[in-house]
Amino acid sequence: MASIHDILTRRLDPAWKPGEPSSLLPDYTARMQALHLAEPRIAEATAVFAGAIAGAGDMATLQSIRNAALSRESGAYSEALALMPTLSVDEKRVSGKALNLGKALVEAAEKAKRNALEHSREGGDAIDVTLPGRRPWSGRPHVLAQVREELLDLFHGLGFSVYTSPEVELESYNFGKLNFAPDHPARDAHDTYFVSPEVLLRTHTSPGWVRAMEERKPPLRLVFPGRVYRAEAVDASHMDQFHQMDGLFVAKNVSMADLKATLNTFARAIYRRDVPTRIIPIYFPFVEPGVQMDVQCATCAGTGRFKDGTEEKRCPVCKGTKWVEVLGAGMVHPNVFKAVGYNPEEVTGFAFGMGLERITMGRHGIHEIREFLQNDLRFLEQF
Ligand code: PHE
Repeated sequence: MASIHDILTRRLDPAWKPGEPSSLLPDYTARMQALHLAEPRIAEATAVFAGAIAGAGDMATLQSIRNAALSRESGAYSEALALMPTLSVDEKRVSGKALNLGKALVEAAEKAKRNALEHSREGGDAIDVTLPGRRPWSGRPHVLAQVREELLDLFHGLGFSVYTSPEVELESYNFGKLNFAPDHPARDAHDTYFVSPEVLLRTHTSPGWVRAMEERKPPLRLVFPGRVYRAEAVDASHMDQFHQMDGLFVAKNVSMADLKATLNTFARAIYRRDVPTRIIPIYFPFVEPGVQMDVQCATCAGTGRFKDGTEEKRCPVCKGTKWVEVLGAGMVHPNVFKAVGYNPEEVTGFAFGMGLERITMGRHGIHEIREFLQNDLRFLEQF
């Protein structure tokens, strides 16, 4: 037959994390001493139960310790007390007293712990009406979308409407009808993601002009926002996908002066009101003449030099050139008009195209283009 000690100890669970019972029962030490004097082995088992109760982190754990120790049918103390009738009178006196002391101690500890857990739960759930309210989390447009919206707003004010065209484009729209020579290096697979020999991911938003002009009669005043792709090696300033916005104005007697006025309005609205700009010639197959517009470098204020602490060095943004390129533009090439069925003797037009990442980076002093796609809230929440 199992001894009293066996009955008590087989209900102890090594997974219990012991705590400090005297924090639950102020007279714990005194009661334990009395128990030790009565019967040391029952005292030891009782100390384990009491410790486990003190260490219980939640109600469910406390309940399972309570069941093991105190359950009326199967609890350790009930089973041990059930042995009493089989013991000698002397044994009964010693063990019976010790078991009753131990059981009372465990009951008191369990009650105190239950109170403490209930109390902390109330405290945790209670509403402190003096705290400021929690603001509901709300999202915001991506910084590139913010810049795109601002540009669309600006051009809308100048009479341009939006035209969108496919990202997966015909080779002939991306290149051929835009007057690229058949062997132009931009067609090379090094720069272009081809889907098939005739189909590619557009490398610029300019093919939208061709689609718009084939579809509609002049006059046209349109902007073409969208994502473009180039097979670039990715680094801090290059990605193989980015965003552009082209603009196109076709009518009778549209001139270079109209283009300059439009671009200066753009630069003043998007950069500083008095930002110096310059227009220099550059080649694009689809415009003649073709130009590039630069704005004065904001990082070095047009000096080309940059102070880094005490050291003065070449400006890292404009590389000492004092200017940063913001867009390409020009007068629409007669061959493009011919390709879409317009008569270049009747209409003229200007076009421009800008990169949204570049504008956004210049504006906010962002030096890492990959941030735009990384979805890191620590970056995005700054704008
Ligand atoms: N499509 C040109 C590019 O991607 C930009 C451009 C647009 C240049 C319109 C001139 C006119 O580089």
